[in-house]
Amino acid sequence: MKMSKRILEIQPSATISISAKAKKMKAEGKPVISFSLGEPDFNSPECASKAAIDAIRRGESHYTLNSGILELRQEVCNYYKRRFGLDYAPDEVLIASGAKPLLYEALQMLVDPGDEVLLFSPAWVSYVEQVHLAGGKDVIVDTLKTDLIPTKKAIEAVLSDKTVGMIVNSPSNPSGAIYDEETLKMIADVAREKDLWIIFDEIYERLVYGHAKHVNILNVAPDIRDRVIIVNGASKAYAMTGWRIGYALAPKPLIAKMNTLQTHLTSNASSIAQWAAWGAIKDADPDVEKMRKAFEERRSVILELVRQMPYVTVRDPEGAFYIFIDIRETPVPDDMKFCEKLLEEKFVAAVPGTAFFAPGFVRFSYACSMENIREGMGRLKDFLKAL
Ligand SMILES: Cc1ncc(COP(=O)(O)O)c(C=O)c1O
Repeated sequence: MKMSKRILEIQPSATISISAKAKKMKAEGKPVISFSLGEPDFNSPECASKAAIDAIRRGESHYTLNSGILELRQEVCNYYKRRFGLDYAPDEVLIASGAKPLLYEALQMLVDPGDEVLLFSPAWVSYVEQVHLAGGKDVIVDTLKTDLIPTKKAIEAVLSDKTVGMIVNSPSNPSGAIYDEETLKMIADVAREKDLWIIFDEIYERLVYGHAKHVNILNVAPDIRDRVIIVNGASKAYAMTGWRIGYALAPKPLIAKMNTLQTHLTSNASSIAQWAAWGAIKDADPDVEKMRKAFEERRSVILELVRQMPYVTVRDPEGAFYIFIDIRETPVPDDMKFCEKLLEEKFVAAVPGTAFFAPGFVRFSYACSMENIREGMGRLKDFLKAL
Protein backbone atom coordinates (compact mmCIF):
# COMPACT_ATOMS: atom_id res chain seq x y z
CA MET A 1 0.00 0.00 0.00
CA LYS A 2 1.33 3.40 -0.95
CA MET A 3 1.64 6.10 1.69
CA SER A 4 2.17 9.79 1.02
CA LYS A 5 5.69 11.20 0.94
CA ARG A 6 4.43 13.80 3.36
CA ILE A 7 3.55 11.30 6.07
CA LEU A 8 6.62 9.17 5.50
CA GLU A 9 8.82 12.21 6.00
CA ILE A 10 7.41 13.10 9.44
CA GLN A 11 10.08 12.39 12.01
CA PRO A 12 8.97 10.70 15.20
CA SER A 13 9.80 12.88 18.15
CA ALA A 14 13.20 12.05 19.62
CA THR A 15 11.48 12.17 22.99
CA ILE A 16 9.41 9.11 22.14
CA SER A 17 12.11 6.47 22.32
CA ILE A 18 13.22 7.66 25.75
CA SER A 19 9.71 7.93 27.20
CA ALA A 20 8.65 4.58 25.68
CA LYS A 21 11.71 3.01 27.25
CA ALA A 22 11.01 4.71 30.59
CA LYS A 23 7.41 3.44 30.57
CA LYS A 24 8.51 -0.08 29.77
CA MET A 25 11.06 -0.04 32.59
CA LYS A 26 8.48 1.29 35.02
CA ALA A 27 6.08 -1.50 34.01
CA GLU A 28 8.88 -3.96 34.77
CA GLY A 29 8.99 -2.59 38.31
CA LYS A 30 12.10 -0.42 37.95
CA PRO A 31 12.13 2.72 40.14
CA VAL A 32 11.96 5.18 37.24
CA ILE A 33 11.77 8.92 37.95
CA SER A 34 10.64 10.89 34.93
CA PHE A 35 11.70 14.47 34.24
CA SER A 36 10.39 14.23 30.69
CA LEU A 37 6.83 15.45 31.23
CA GLY A 38 5.73 18.68 29.58
CA GLU A 39 2.67 19.28 31.69
CA PRO A 40 1.79 20.70 35.10
CA ASP A 41 1.23 17.97 37.68
CA PHE A 42 -1.62 19.90 39.38
CA ASN A 43 -5.33 19.32 38.94
CA SER A 44 -7.33 21.86 36.94
CA PRO A 45 -8.72 24.76 39.02
CA GLU A 46 -12.05 24.18 40.73
CA CYS A 47 -13.62 27.14 38.89
CA ALA A 48 -12.82 25.45 35.56
CA SER A 49 -14.37 22.15 36.64
CA LYS A 50 -17.44 23.94 38.01
CA ALA A 51 -17.96 25.89 34.76
CA ALA A 52 -17.70 22.60 32.84
CA ILE A 53 -20.17 20.79 35.12
CA ASP A 54 -22.61 23.71 34.88
CA ALA A 55 -22.29 23.56 31.07
CA ILE A 56 -23.04 19.82 31.06
CA ARG A 57 -26.10 20.37 33.28
CA ARG A 58 -27.32 23.15 30.98
CA GLY A 59 -27.02 20.75 28.05
CA GLU A 60 -24.22 22.56 26.22
CA SER A 61 -23.54 19.41 24.27
CA HIS A 62 -23.92 20.68 20.72
CA TYR A 63 -21.65 22.07 18.04
CA THR A 64 -20.67 25.61 18.96
CA LEU A 65 -19.68 28.34 16.55
CA ASN A 66 -16.68 26.98 14.69
CA SER A 67 -14.49 29.79 16.02
CA GLY A 68 -15.56 29.14 19.62
CA ILE A 69 -18.29 30.36 21.95
CA LEU A 70 -18.55 34.14 22.06
CA GLU A 71 -18.28 34.13 25.89
CA LEU A 72 -14.84 32.52 25.75
CA ARG A 73 -13.57 34.65 22.88
CA GLN A 74 -14.75 37.75 24.78
CA GLU A 75 -13.02 36.50 27.94
CA VAL A 76 -9.79 36.00 25.98
CA CYS A 77 -10.07 39.63 24.77
CA ASN A 78 -10.68 40.84 28.34
CA TYR A 79 -7.66 38.86 29.47
CA TYR A 80 -5.38 40.33 26.80
CA LYS A 81 -6.58 43.82 27.71
CA ARG A 82 -5.94 43.42 31.44
CA ARG A 83 -2.68 41.48 31.14
CA PHE A 84 -1.01 43.21 28.20
CA GLY A 85 -3.16 46.28 27.50
CA LEU A 86 -3.79 44.88 23.99
CA ASP A 87 -7.08 45.49 22.19
CA TYR A 88 -8.58 42.54 20.37
CA ALA A 89 -12.20 41.96 19.37
CA PRO A 90 -13.92 38.55 19.59
CA ASP A 91 -13.75 38.16 15.79
CA GLU A 92 -9.97 38.44 16.08
CA VAL A 93 -9.85 35.36 18.32
CA LEU A 94 -9.98 31.71 17.32
CA ILE A 95 -10.52 28.88 19.81
CA ALA A 96 -9.16 25.43 18.94
CA SER A 97 -8.50 22.05 20.53
CA GLY A 98 -5.17 23.20 21.95
CA ALA A 99 -2.46 25.58 20.83
CA LYS A 100 -0.97 22.87 18.63
CA PRO A 101 -3.73 22.88 15.98
CA LEU A 102 -3.63 26.68 15.94
CA LEU A 103 0.07 26.61 15.11
CA TYR A 104 -0.69 24.10 12.36
CA GLU A 105 -3.51 26.23 10.96
CA ALA A 106 -1.39 29.38 11.04
CA LEU A 107 1.44 27.67 9.16
CA GLN A 108 -0.95 26.20 6.60
CA MET A 109 -2.26 29.72 6.03
CA LEU A 110 1.15 31.36 5.72
CA VAL A 111 3.57 28.90 4.14
CA ASP A 112 3.87 27.81 0.50
CA PRO A 113 6.12 24.97 -0.66
CA GLY A 114 9.73 26.14 -0.60
CA ASP A 115 9.13 29.03 1.79
CA GLU A 116 11.63 29.31 4.62
CA VAL A 117 10.55 29.72 8.23
CA LEU A 118 12.97 30.76 10.96
CA LEU A 119 13.01 28.74 14.18
CA PHE A 120 15.19 29.70 17.12
CA SER A 121 17.21 26.90 18.63
CA PRO A 122 16.51 25.28 20.98
CA ALA A 123 13.09 25.00 19.34
CA TRP A 124 10.06 23.01 20.44
CA VAL A 125 9.71 19.68 18.63
CA SER A 126 6.45 20.24 16.75
CA TYR A 127 7.38 23.49 14.98
CA VAL A 128 9.69 21.84 12.50
CA GLU A 129 7.28 19.05 11.57
CA GLN A 130 4.42 21.50 11.17
CA VAL A 131 6.56 23.71 8.91
CA HIS A 132 7.37 20.63 6.81
CA LEU A 133 3.69 19.62 6.67
CA ALA A 134 3.01 23.00 5.08
CA GLY A 135 5.73 22.30 2.49
CA GLY A 136 8.06 24.83 4.08
CA LYS A 137 11.70 24.58 5.02
CA ASP A 138 12.86 25.14 8.58
CA VAL A 139 15.86 27.38 9.02
CA ILE A 140 17.45 27.32 12.44
CA VAL A 141 18.75 30.50 14.04
CA ASP A 142 21.53 29.29 16.31
CA THR A 143 21.46 30.68 19.86
CA LEU A 144 23.61 28.04 21.50
CA LYS A 145 26.64 30.35 21.66
CA THR A 146 24.65 33.38 22.80
CA ASP A 147 23.10 32.16 26.05
CA LEU A 148 20.06 30.69 24.21
CA ILE A 149 18.92 34.19 23.17
CA PRO A 150 18.91 35.13 19.45
CA THR A 151 21.02 37.96 18.13
CA LYS A 152 20.46 40.11 15.05
CA LYS A 153 23.71 38.81 13.60
CA ALA A 154 22.51 35.19 13.92
CA ILE A 155 19.17 36.01 12.28
CA GLU A 156 20.75 37.98 9.45
CA ALA A 157 23.16 35.11 8.82
CA VAL A 158 20.29 32.83 7.78
CA LEU A 159 17.82 35.23 6.12
CA SER A 160 17.24 34.64 2.44
CA ASP A 161 14.83 35.88 -0.20
CA LYS A 162 12.75 32.79 0.57
CA THR A 163 12.27 33.69 4.26
CA VAL A 164 8.60 34.39 4.93
CA GLY A 165 8.31 34.40 8.72
CA MET A 166 9.38 33.09 12.08
CA ILE A 167 8.09 31.32 15.13
CA VAL A 168 9.03 33.03 18.38
CA ASN A 169 8.48 31.14 21.63
CA SER A 170 8.90 33.01 24.91
CA PRO A 171 9.10 31.69 27.62
CA SER A 172 10.79 28.90 25.73
CA ASN A 173 10.23 25.20 25.78
CA PRO A 174 12.83 23.69 26.32
CA SER A 175 15.18 26.37 27.68
CA GLY A 176 12.83 28.36 29.93
CA ALA A 177 14.45 31.50 28.48
CA ILE A 178 12.41 34.68 28.25
CA TYR A 179 13.24 37.08 25.44
CA ASP A 180 13.65 40.55 26.96
CA GLU A 181 12.28 43.78 25.48
CA GLU A 182 15.44 44.54 23.54
CA THR A 183 15.50 41.10 21.90
CA LEU A 184 11.82 41.32 21.01
CA LYS A 185 12.31 44.82 19.57
CA MET A 186 15.18 43.50 17.45
CA ILE A 187 13.02 40.61 16.19
CA ALA A 188 10.19 43.02 15.42
CA ASP A 189 12.63 45.28 13.51
CA VAL A 190 13.74 42.35 11.36
CA ALA A 191 10.11 41.38 10.67
CA ARG A 192 9.27 44.96 9.67
CA GLU A 193 12.37 45.45 7.51
CA LYS A 194 12.09 42.10 5.74
CA ASP A 195 8.28 41.94 5.54
CA LEU A 196 8.00 38.76 7.62
CA TRP A 197 5.17 37.42 9.77
CA ILE A 198 5.66 36.28 13.36
CA ILE A 199 3.87 33.47 15.14
CA PHE A 200 4.28 34.45 18.79
CA ASP A 201 3.80 31.38 20.98
CA GLU A 202 3.48 32.55 24.57
CA ILE A 203 1.83 29.47 26.04
CA TYR A 204 4.11 29.60 29.13
CA GLU A 205 3.56 33.33 29.79
CA ARG A 206 2.05 32.84 33.25
CA LEU A 207 4.98 30.79 34.52
CA VAL A 208 7.62 33.44 35.16
CA TYR A 209 10.00 33.61 38.13
CA GLY A 210 12.14 35.96 40.19
CA HIS A 211 12.49 39.45 38.73
CA ALA A 212 11.87 38.29 35.18
CA LYS A 213 8.98 39.79 33.26
CA HIS A 214 7.25 38.26 30.29
CA VAL A 215 6.65 40.75 27.51
CA ASN A 216 4.30 40.34 24.57
CA ILE A 217 6.02 41.41 21.34
CA LEU A 218 3.21 43.88 20.58
CA ASN A 219 4.00 45.73 23.80
CA VAL A 220 7.37 46.74 22.34
CA ALA A 221 6.30 47.00 18.69
CA PRO A 222 2.57 47.80 18.47
CA ASP A 223 2.94 48.83 14.82
CA ILE A 224 3.54 45.22 13.69
CA ARG A 225 0.12 44.02 14.92
CA ASP A 226 -0.93 43.12 11.35
CA ARG A 227 1.90 40.64 10.93
CA VAL A 228 1.64 38.88 14.32
CA ILE A 229 -0.37 35.80 15.24
CA ILE A 230 -0.41 35.29 19.00
CA VAL A 231 -0.84 31.71 20.18
CA ASN A 232 -1.71 30.89 23.78
CA GLY A 233 -3.91 28.41 25.63
CA ALA A 234 -5.23 26.92 28.83
CA SER A 235 -2.87 23.92 28.99
CA LYS A 236 0.10 25.29 30.90
CA ALA A 237 -1.29 28.34 32.72
CA TYR A 238 -4.27 26.57 34.25
CA ALA A 239 -2.99 22.97 34.34
CA MET A 240 -5.63 22.06 31.76
CA THR A 241 -3.67 19.98 29.25
CA GLY A 242 -6.36 17.32 28.95
CA TRP A 243 -9.18 19.75 28.19
CA ARG A 244 -7.46 20.77 24.95
CA ILE A 245 -8.18 24.48 24.61
CA GLY A 246 -5.96 26.96 22.78
CA TYR A 247 -6.57 30.50 21.52
CA ALA A 248 -5.06 32.54 18.72
CA LEU A 249 -5.32 36.32 18.39
CA ALA A 250 -4.67 38.07 15.08
CA PRO A 251 -6.26 40.57 12.70
CA LYS A 252 -9.70 39.49 11.48
CA PRO A 253 -8.72 38.43 7.91
CA LEU A 254 -6.10 36.02 9.27
CA ILE A 255 -8.35 34.58 11.96
CA ALA A 256 -11.09 34.14 9.34
CA LYS A 257 -8.76 32.08 7.12
CA MET A 258 -7.58 29.89 10.00
CA ASN A 259 -11.19 29.42 11.02
CA THR A 260 -12.12 28.32 7.49
CA LEU A 261 -9.38 25.71 7.60
CA GLN A 262 -10.57 24.61 11.03
CA THR A 263 -14.10 24.03 9.66
CA HIS A 264 -12.58 21.22 7.57
CA LEU A 265 -10.44 19.80 10.37
CA THR A 266 -11.72 19.63 13.93
CA SER A 267 -14.62 22.13 13.71
CA ASN A 268 -15.16 23.71 17.11
CA ALA A 269 -13.20 22.69 20.20
CA SER A 270 -15.19 20.66 22.74
CA SER A 271 -18.12 22.75 23.97
CA ILE A 272 -17.68 21.67 27.59
CA ALA A 273 -13.94 22.31 27.53
CA GLN A 274 -14.56 25.80 26.14
CA TRP A 275 -16.77 26.59 29.12
CA ALA A 276 -14.10 25.17 31.46
CA ALA A 277 -11.51 27.50 29.90
CA TRP A 278 -13.96 30.40 30.21
CA GLY A 279 -14.27 29.66 33.94
CA ALA A 280 -10.49 29.43 34.32
CA ILE A 281 -9.62 32.66 32.50
CA LYS A 282 -12.28 34.53 34.48
CA ASP A 283 -11.60 33.21 37.97
CA ALA A 284 -8.44 31.09 38.24
CA ASP A 285 -5.82 33.80 38.86
CA PRO A 286 -5.36 32.74 42.53
CA ASP A 287 -4.88 29.09 41.43
CA VAL A 288 -2.35 30.15 38.80
CA GLU A 289 -0.38 32.09 41.41
CA LYS A 290 -0.36 29.07 43.76
CA MET A 291 0.97 26.81 40.99
CA ARG A 292 3.50 29.41 39.87
CA LYS A 293 4.84 29.69 43.42
CA ALA A 294 5.13 25.90 43.71
CA PHE A 295 7.05 25.79 40.43
CA GLU A 296 9.27 28.64 41.62
CA GLU A 297 10.22 26.70 44.75
CA ARG A 298 10.99 23.56 42.76
CA ARG A 299 12.99 25.62 40.29
CA SER A 300 15.25 27.00 43.06
CA VAL A 301 15.77 23.54 44.52
CA ILE A 302 16.58 21.84 41.22
CA LEU A 303 18.93 24.67 40.16
CA GLU A 304 20.75 24.58 43.48
CA LEU A 305 21.20 20.81 43.23
CA VAL A 306 22.42 20.94 39.62
CA ARG A 307 24.91 23.68 40.46
CA GLN A 308 26.62 21.29 42.89
CA MET A 309 27.24 18.72 40.15
CA PRO A 310 30.49 18.18 38.24
CA TYR A 311 30.90 18.95 34.50
CA VAL A 312 27.45 20.44 33.83
CA THR A 313 26.29 24.03 33.63
CA VAL A 314 22.81 25.47 33.50
CA ARG A 315 21.42 28.85 32.53
CA ASP A 316 18.89 30.39 34.96
CA PRO A 317 15.59 29.74 33.21
CA GLU A 318 13.27 32.72 33.73
CA GLY A 319 10.06 30.87 32.86
CA ALA A 320 8.18 27.65 31.97
CA PHE A 321 9.03 24.54 34.05
CA TYR A 322 12.20 23.24 32.43
CA ILE A 323 15.91 23.43 33.04
CA PHE A 324 18.18 22.90 30.07
CA ILE A 325 21.49 21.45 31.18
CA ASP A 326 24.65 21.83 29.13
CA ILE A 327 26.43 18.45 29.16
CA ARG A 328 29.03 19.25 26.52
CA GLU A 329 31.88 19.18 29.05
CA THR A 330 30.94 15.76 30.49
CA PRO A 331 32.71 12.54 29.42
CA VAL A 332 29.46 11.70 27.55
CA PRO A 333 28.77 14.86 25.52
CA ASP A 334 26.39 13.05 23.15
CA ASP A 335 22.97 13.92 24.63
CA MET A 336 21.21 10.88 23.14
CA LYS A 337 23.77 8.51 24.68
CA PHE A 338 23.78 10.50 27.91
CA CYS A 339 19.99 10.16 28.31
CA GLU A 340 20.01 6.46 27.44
CA LYS A 341 22.80 5.73 29.91
CA LEU A 342 21.16 7.82 32.64
CA LEU A 343 17.92 5.93 32.20
CA GLU A 344 19.54 2.51 32.06
CA GLU A 345 21.88 3.02 34.98
CA LYS A 346 19.98 5.36 37.28
CA PHE A 347 16.38 5.04 36.07
CA VAL A 348 16.14 8.79 35.45
CA ALA A 349 14.32 9.90 32.30
CA ALA A 350 15.11 13.24 30.61
CA VAL A 351 14.84 14.55 27.05
CA PRO A 352 17.93 14.89 24.82
CA GLY A 353 18.55 18.37 23.43
CA THR A 354 18.87 16.95 19.90
CA ALA A 355 15.06 16.80 19.91
CA PHE A 356 15.15 20.61 20.06
CA PHE A 357 18.11 21.23 17.66
CA ALA A 358 20.40 21.62 20.65
CA PRO A 359 22.76 18.66 20.78
CA GLY A 360 24.88 18.62 23.93
CA PHE A 361 21.99 19.71 26.14
CA VAL A 362 19.40 17.77 28.17
CA ARG A 363 15.95 19.00 29.24
CA PHE A 364 14.62 18.21 32.71
CA SER A 365 11.04 19.19 33.54
CA TYR A 366 10.45 20.11 37.17
CA ALA A 367 6.70 19.62 36.87
CA CYS A 368 7.02 16.79 39.39
CA SER A 369 7.10 16.40 43.18
CA MET A 370 9.85 17.90 45.31
CA GLU A 371 10.58 14.37 46.56
CA ASN A 372 11.23 13.19 42.99
CA ILE A 373 13.34 16.26 42.29
CA ARG A 374 15.60 15.55 45.29
CA GLU A 375 15.85 11.82 44.62
CA GLY A 376 16.30 12.20 40.84
CA MET A 377 18.94 14.93 41.15
CA GLY A 378 20.78 12.79 43.72
CA ARG A 379 20.92 10.02 41.15
CA LEU A 380 22.06 12.43 38.43
CA LYS A 381 24.90 13.64 40.67
CA ASP A 382 26.01 10.07 41.38
CA PHE A 383 25.81 9.31 37.66
CA LEU A 384 28.01 12.28 36.76
CA LYS A 385 30.53 11.52 39.50
CA ALA A 386 30.90 7.96 38.22
CA LEU A 387 31.54 9.00 34.59
C1 LIG B 1 6.00 25.73 23.19
C2 LIG B 1 4.72 25.02 23.12
N1 LIG B 1 3.76 25.49 22.30
C3 LIG B 1 2.56 24.87 22.18
C4 LIG B 1 2.28 23.73 22.91
C5 LIG B 1 0.95 23.08 22.69
O1 LIG B 1 0.12 23.14 23.78
P1 LIG B 1 -1.39 22.62 23.71
O2 LIG B 1 -1.63 22.02 22.39
O3 LIG B 1 -1.51 21.65 24.84
O4 LIG B 1 -2.23 23.84 23.93
C6 LIG B 1 3.24 23.21 23.77
C7 LIG B 1 2.99 21.96 24.51
O5 LIG B 1 3.86 21.28 24.99
C8 LIG B 1 4.49 23.86 23.89
O6 LIG B 1 5.44 23.41 24.72
